[in-house]
Amino acid sequence: MNILITGAHGQLGKQLERILKGSHTVYSLGKNELDITIKENTEKIFLQLKPQIVIHAAAFTAVDQCEIDRKKAFEVNGIGTGYVAQAANKIQAKMFYISSDYVFDGKKQVPYKENDEPNPQSTYGMSKWLGEKLVQKFNNGTIIRTSWLYGHDGKNFVKTMLNNAKKNRAVKVVNDQIGSPTYVNDLADTIRLLLDKKSGIYHVSNTGSCSWFEFARAIYQEAGYNPDLVLPIKTEDYNALASRPKYSILGHEALEKEKIMTLRPWNEALKDFIRKEFSHDRRSKN
Ligand SMILES: NC(=O)c1ccc[n+]([C@@H]2O[C@H](COP(=O)([O-])OP(=O)(O)OC[C@H]3O[C@@H](n4cnc5c(N)ncnc54)[C@H](OP(=O)(O)O)[C@@H]3O)[C@@H](O)[C@H]2O)c1
Repeated sequence: MNILITGAHGQLGKQLERILKGSHTVYSLGKNELDITIKENTEKIFLQLKPQIVIHAAAFTAVDQCEIDRKKAFEVNGIGTGYVAQAANKIQAKMFYISSDYVFDGKKQVPYKENDEPNPQSTYGMSKWLGEKLVQKFNNGTIIRTSWLYGHDGKNFVKTMLNNAKKNRAVKVVNDQIGSPTYVNDLADTIRLLLDKKSGIYHVSNTGSCSWFEFARAIYQEAGYNPDLVLPIKTEDYNALASRPKYSILGHEALEKEKIMTLRPWNEALKDFIRKEFSHDRRSKN
Protein backbone atom coordinates (compact mmCIF):
# COMPACT_ATOMS: atom_id res chain seq x y z
CA MET A 1 0.00 0.00 0.00
CA ASN A 2 1.14 3.61 -0.62
CA ILE A 3 0.88 5.67 2.56
CA LEU A 4 1.50 9.40 2.91
CA ILE A 5 2.29 10.82 6.36
CA THR A 6 1.94 14.56 7.02
CA GLY A 7 3.94 16.14 9.87
CA ALA A 8 6.36 13.25 9.40
CA HIS A 9 9.15 14.81 11.46
CA GLY A 10 7.00 15.07 14.61
CA GLN A 11 6.86 12.56 17.48
CA LEU A 12 4.10 10.46 15.96
CA GLY A 13 5.10 10.94 12.31
CA LYS A 14 8.58 9.54 12.92
CA GLN A 15 7.32 6.46 14.74
CA LEU A 16 4.68 5.80 12.08
CA GLU A 17 7.36 5.91 9.40
CA ARG A 18 9.52 3.45 11.37
CA ILE A 19 6.81 0.83 11.74
CA LEU A 20 5.18 1.18 8.31
CA LYS A 21 8.15 1.41 5.97
CA GLY A 22 9.01 -2.33 6.15
CA SER A 23 5.68 -3.39 4.67
CA HIS A 24 4.43 -0.37 2.71
CA THR A 25 5.65 2.39 0.41
CA VAL A 26 5.76 5.36 2.76
CA TYR A 27 5.95 9.01 1.74
CA SER A 28 7.07 10.80 4.92
CA LEU A 29 6.57 14.51 4.35
CA GLY A 30 7.62 17.12 6.89
CA LYS A 31 6.55 20.77 6.79
CA ASN A 32 9.32 21.66 4.32
CA GLU A 33 8.13 19.06 1.82
CA LEU A 34 4.40 19.53 2.41
CA ASP A 35 3.03 22.63 4.12
CA ILE A 36 -0.62 21.72 4.58
CA THR A 37 -1.68 25.37 4.77
CA ILE A 38 -0.94 25.77 1.04
CA LYS A 39 -3.96 24.27 -0.71
CA GLU A 40 -2.67 24.07 -4.31
CA ASN A 41 0.61 22.53 -3.22
CA THR A 42 -1.14 19.93 -1.07
CA GLU A 43 -3.37 18.91 -3.99
CA LYS A 44 -0.43 18.83 -6.41
CA ILE A 45 1.62 16.54 -4.16
CA PHE A 46 -1.33 14.21 -3.54
CA LEU A 47 -2.01 14.00 -7.30
CA GLN A 48 1.65 13.26 -7.99
CA LEU A 49 2.11 10.58 -5.31
CA LYS A 50 -1.43 9.12 -5.36
CA PRO A 51 -1.28 7.53 -1.89
CA GLN A 52 -4.08 5.11 -1.02
CA ILE A 53 -3.87 6.16 2.62
CA VAL A 54 -3.13 9.54 4.19
CA ILE A 55 -2.22 9.71 7.87
CA HIS A 56 -2.52 13.35 8.86
CA ALA A 57 -0.28 13.87 11.91
CA ALA A 58 0.79 17.47 11.15
CA ALA A 59 -0.40 20.03 13.67
CA PHE A 60 0.45 23.16 15.62
CA THR A 61 0.67 21.36 18.97
CA ALA A 62 2.00 24.02 21.37
CA VAL A 63 -1.24 24.43 23.33
CA ASP A 64 -0.37 27.71 25.11
CA GLN A 65 1.28 29.17 22.00
CA CYS A 66 -2.02 28.59 20.15
CA GLU A 67 -3.60 31.23 22.43
CA ILE A 68 -0.99 33.76 21.28
CA ASP A 69 -1.16 32.84 17.59
CA ARG A 70 -4.81 31.93 17.14
CA LYS A 71 -4.72 32.60 13.41
CA LYS A 72 -1.95 30.07 12.89
CA ALA A 73 -3.74 27.52 15.11
CA PHE A 74 -6.88 27.66 12.95
CA GLU A 75 -4.90 27.80 9.69
CA VAL A 76 -2.85 24.69 10.49
CA ASN A 77 -5.12 22.54 12.67
CA GLY A 78 -8.44 23.54 11.15
CA ILE A 79 -8.32 24.90 7.60
CA GLY A 80 -5.09 23.02 6.69
CA THR A 81 -6.76 19.79 7.77
CA GLY A 82 -9.65 20.69 5.45
CA TYR A 83 -7.17 21.03 2.55
CA VAL A 84 -5.71 17.61 3.35
CA ALA A 85 -9.21 16.12 3.47
CA GLN A 86 -10.19 17.69 0.12
CA ALA A 87 -6.94 16.62 -1.57
CA ALA A 88 -7.34 13.07 -0.20
CA ASN A 89 -10.91 13.04 -1.47
CA LYS A 90 -9.81 14.01 -5.00
CA ILE A 91 -7.63 10.91 -5.27
CA GLN A 92 -10.02 8.75 -3.20
CA ALA A 93 -7.45 8.14 -0.50
CA LYS A 94 -8.56 6.92 2.90
CA MET A 95 -7.75 9.57 5.49
CA PHE A 96 -6.78 9.23 9.15
CA TYR A 97 -6.79 12.46 11.16
CA ILE A 98 -5.12 12.54 14.57
CA SER A 99 -7.16 14.61 17.01
CA SER A 100 -7.08 15.33 20.70
CA ASP A 101 -8.76 14.82 24.08
CA TYR A 102 -8.69 18.65 24.32
CA VAL A 103 -11.79 18.84 22.10
CA PHE A 104 -13.73 17.96 25.28
CA ASP A 105 -14.56 20.35 28.12
CA GLY A 106 -13.54 18.04 30.98
CA LYS A 107 -16.81 18.35 32.85
CA LYS A 108 -17.60 14.61 32.75
CA GLN A 109 -16.56 12.23 35.48
CA VAL A 110 -16.66 9.06 33.42
CA PRO A 111 -14.63 8.41 30.25
CA TYR A 112 -15.58 10.34 27.12
CA LYS A 113 -17.28 8.24 24.45
CA GLU A 114 -16.41 8.62 20.78
CA ASN A 115 -19.81 10.19 20.05
CA ASP A 116 -19.84 12.61 23.01
CA GLU A 117 -20.25 16.20 21.84
CA PRO A 118 -16.97 18.18 21.88
CA ASN A 119 -16.93 21.50 23.68
CA PRO A 120 -13.34 22.75 23.56
CA GLN A 121 -12.06 25.21 26.15
CA SER A 122 -8.94 26.41 24.31
CA THR A 123 -7.91 27.67 20.88
CA TYR A 124 -5.95 24.47 20.29
CA GLY A 125 -9.02 22.37 21.15
CA MET A 126 -11.30 24.50 18.94
CA SER A 127 -8.90 24.32 16.01
CA LYS A 128 -8.60 20.52 16.30
CA TRP A 129 -12.41 20.24 16.44
CA LEU A 130 -12.70 22.36 13.31
CA GLY A 131 -10.23 19.91 11.71
CA GLU A 132 -12.50 17.01 12.73
CA LYS A 133 -15.56 18.69 11.22
CA LEU A 134 -13.78 19.37 7.93
CA VAL A 135 -12.59 15.75 7.72
CA GLN A 136 -16.20 14.62 8.20
CA LYS A 137 -17.44 17.12 5.62
CA PHE A 138 -14.93 16.46 2.83
CA ASN A 139 -13.62 12.96 3.27
CA ASN A 140 -15.63 10.66 5.52
CA GLY A 141 -12.24 9.79 6.97
CA THR A 142 -11.31 8.35 10.33
CA ILE A 143 -10.71 10.53 13.38
CA ILE A 144 -8.34 9.14 15.99
CA ARG A 145 -8.39 11.05 19.28
CA THR A 146 -5.48 10.55 21.62
CA SER A 147 -4.10 12.23 24.75
CA TRP A 148 -0.94 13.35 26.58
CA LEU A 149 1.50 12.01 23.97
CA TYR A 150 5.17 11.28 24.54
CA GLY A 151 7.75 9.40 22.52
CA HIS A 152 11.43 9.22 21.70
CA ASP A 153 11.45 12.03 19.10
CA GLY A 154 11.00 15.72 19.81
CA LYS A 155 10.02 17.52 22.99
CA ASN A 156 7.45 16.24 25.46
CA PHE A 157 6.48 16.24 29.14
CA VAL A 158 8.34 13.02 30.00
CA LYS A 159 11.60 14.24 28.49
CA THR A 160 11.27 17.57 30.29
CA MET A 161 10.71 15.80 33.61
CA LEU A 162 13.65 13.43 33.02
CA ASN A 163 15.83 16.42 32.34
CA ASN A 164 14.74 18.07 35.60
CA ALA A 165 15.20 14.81 37.51
CA LYS A 166 18.76 14.33 36.21
CA LYS A 167 19.60 17.79 37.57
CA ASN A 168 17.92 16.99 40.92
CA ARG A 169 15.51 19.85 40.32
CA ALA A 170 12.27 20.24 42.26
CA VAL A 171 9.23 20.86 40.05
CA LYS A 172 5.67 22.00 40.70
CA VAL A 173 3.12 20.08 38.65
CA VAL A 174 -0.66 20.41 38.46
CA ASN A 175 -2.60 17.83 40.44
CA ASP A 176 -6.16 18.60 39.32
CA GLN A 177 -6.14 17.65 35.64
CA ILE A 178 -6.73 13.96 35.05
CA GLY A 179 -5.99 12.12 31.81
CA SER A 180 -4.21 9.20 30.22
CA PRO A 181 -0.56 9.57 29.19
CA THR A 182 -0.02 7.79 25.87
CA TYR A 183 3.20 6.33 24.48
CA VAL A 184 3.54 7.23 20.80
CA ASN A 185 4.83 3.72 19.98
CA ASP A 186 1.61 2.15 21.31
CA LEU A 187 -0.53 4.70 19.47
CA ALA A 188 1.32 4.07 16.19
CA ASP A 189 0.88 0.28 16.53
CA THR A 190 -2.88 0.74 16.96
CA ILE A 191 -3.13 3.20 14.05
CA ARG A 192 -1.57 0.47 11.90
CA LEU A 193 -4.32 -1.94 13.00
CA LEU A 194 -6.99 0.64 12.13
CA LEU A 195 -5.84 1.13 8.54
CA ASP A 196 -8.18 -1.54 7.16
CA LYS A 197 -11.06 -0.98 9.56
CA LYS A 198 -14.24 0.93 8.87
CA SER A 199 -14.03 4.70 9.08
CA GLY A 200 -15.34 6.52 12.12
CA ILE A 201 -14.16 8.04 15.36
CA TYR A 202 -11.76 6.03 17.53
CA HIS A 203 -10.24 6.90 20.90
CA VAL A 204 -6.70 5.54 21.28
CA SER A 205 -4.87 6.12 24.56
CA ASN A 206 -3.04 4.01 27.11
CA THR A 207 -5.45 2.68 29.73
CA GLY A 208 -5.70 3.89 33.32
CA SER A 209 -5.35 7.52 34.33
CA CYS A 210 -3.48 9.93 36.57
CA SER A 211 -2.94 13.64 37.18
CA TRP A 212 0.07 15.42 35.65
CA PHE A 213 1.53 15.46 39.20
CA GLU A 214 1.15 11.68 39.57
CA PHE A 215 2.60 11.24 36.09
CA ALA A 216 5.64 13.37 36.96
CA ARG A 217 6.22 11.44 40.20
CA ALA A 218 6.05 8.16 38.30
CA ILE A 219 8.63 9.47 35.81
CA TYR A 220 11.06 10.46 38.58
CA GLN A 221 10.48 7.19 40.42
CA GLU A 222 10.75 4.93 37.37
CA ALA A 223 13.97 6.61 36.26
CA GLY A 224 15.54 6.14 39.73
CA TYR A 225 15.26 9.72 41.02
CA ASN A 226 13.59 11.09 44.15
CA PRO A 227 9.83 11.46 43.47
CA ASP A 228 9.47 13.80 46.46
CA LEU A 229 11.09 16.48 44.31
CA VAL A 230 7.75 16.66 42.50
CA LEU A 231 5.34 18.99 44.29
CA PRO A 232 1.58 19.35 43.65
CA ILE A 233 0.10 22.64 42.50
CA LYS A 234 -3.43 23.71 41.48
CA THR A 235 -4.27 24.68 37.90
CA GLU A 236 -5.28 28.20 39.05
CA ASP A 237 -1.82 28.71 40.61
CA TYR A 238 0.04 27.51 37.51
CA ASN A 239 -1.13 30.35 35.26
CA ALA A 240 -1.02 28.60 31.91
CA LEU A 241 -2.36 30.62 28.98
CA ALA A 242 -4.67 27.93 27.67
CA SER A 243 -7.35 26.35 29.77
CA ARG A 244 -7.26 22.56 29.77
CA PRO A 245 -9.91 19.99 30.63
CA LYS A 246 -9.89 18.86 34.28
CA TYR A 247 -10.84 15.38 33.14
CA SER A 248 -10.11 14.01 29.70
CA ILE A 249 -10.05 10.23 29.97
CA LEU A 250 -11.08 8.65 26.68
CA GLY A 251 -13.29 5.55 26.58
CA HIS A 252 -12.36 2.89 24.01
CA GLU A 253 -15.70 1.42 22.89
CA ALA A 254 -14.97 1.83 19.16
CA LEU A 255 -11.71 -0.13 19.41
CA GLU A 256 -13.50 -2.86 21.37
CA LYS A 257 -16.25 -3.03 18.74
CA GLU A 258 -13.63 -3.63 16.05
CA LYS A 259 -12.02 -6.29 18.29
CA ILE A 260 -8.79 -4.32 18.52
CA MET A 261 -7.02 -4.76 21.83
CA THR A 262 -7.06 -1.68 24.02
CA LEU A 263 -3.62 -0.33 24.91
CA ARG A 264 -1.63 -1.44 27.95
CA PRO A 265 -1.82 0.61 31.19
CA TRP A 266 -0.01 3.95 31.04
CA ASN A 267 2.47 3.03 33.82
CA GLU A 268 3.63 -0.11 31.98
CA ALA A 269 4.11 1.91 28.81
CA LEU A 270 6.09 4.55 30.74
CA LYS A 271 8.38 1.85 32.14
CA ASP A 272 9.04 0.58 28.63
CA PHE A 273 9.68 4.10 27.32
CA ILE A 274 12.19 4.89 30.07
CA ARG A 275 14.04 1.61 29.56
CA LYS A 276 14.32 2.28 25.81
CA GLU A 277 15.24 5.93 26.30
CA PHE A 278 18.04 5.04 28.73
CA SER A 279 19.43 2.30 26.52
CA HIS A 280 19.41 4.80 23.65
CA ASP A 281 21.28 7.31 25.90
CA ARG A 282 23.91 4.65 26.67
CA ARG A 283 24.28 3.75 22.97
CA SER A 284 24.77 7.37 21.93
CA LYS A 285 27.40 7.94 24.65
CA ASN A 286 29.43 4.84 23.60
N1 LIG B 1 1.39 15.98 21.72
C1 LIG B 1 0.28 15.66 22.40
O1 LIG B 1 0.27 15.60 23.64
C2 LIG B 1 -0.98 15.34 21.64
C3 LIG B 1 -2.13 14.99 22.36
C4 LIG B 1 -3.29 14.69 21.65
C5 LIG B 1 -3.30 14.74 20.26
N2 LIG B 1 -2.17 15.12 19.59
C6 LIG B 1 -2.21 15.17 18.13
O2 LIG B 1 -1.40 14.11 17.64
C7 LIG B 1 -0.78 14.50 16.40
C8 LIG B 1 0.72 14.26 16.49
O3 LIG B 1 1.25 15.00 17.57
P1 LIG B 1 2.80 15.07 17.87
O4 LIG B 1 2.96 15.10 19.33
O5 LIG B 1 3.52 14.07 17.03
O6 LIG B 1 3.11 16.54 17.31
P2 LIG B 1 4.51 17.20 16.95
O7 LIG B 1 5.63 16.38 17.47
O8 LIG B 1 4.39 18.62 17.33
O9 LIG B 1 4.51 17.06 15.37
C9 LIG B 1 3.69 17.81 14.53
C10 LIG B 1 4.44 18.10 13.27
O10 LIG B 1 3.61 18.87 12.40
C11 LIG B 1 4.43 19.82 11.76
N3 LIG B 1 3.68 20.95 11.23
C12 LIG B 1 3.33 22.12 11.85
N4 LIG B 1 2.73 22.95 10.98
C13 LIG B 1 2.70 22.32 9.78
C14 LIG B 1 2.23 22.66 8.49
N5 LIG B 1 1.69 23.86 8.24
N6 LIG B 1 2.37 21.76 7.48
C15 LIG B 1 2.95 20.56 7.72
N7 LIG B 1 3.44 20.19 8.90
C16 LIG B 1 3.29 21.04 9.93
C17 LIG B 1 5.42 20.24 12.83
O11 LIG B 1 6.54 20.86 12.27
P3 LIG B 1 7.33 22.02 13.08
O12 LIG B 1 7.65 21.43 14.42
O13 LIG B 1 8.50 22.31 12.21
O14 LIG B 1 6.35 23.17 13.18
C18 LIG B 1 5.73 18.89 13.49
O15 LIG B 1 6.82 18.25 12.89
C19 LIG B 1 -1.17 15.97 16.20
O16 LIG B 1 -2.26 16.01 15.31
C20 LIG B 1 -1.64 16.44 17.56
O17 LIG B 1 -2.59 17.47 17.47
C21 LIG B 1 -1.01 15.39 20.25
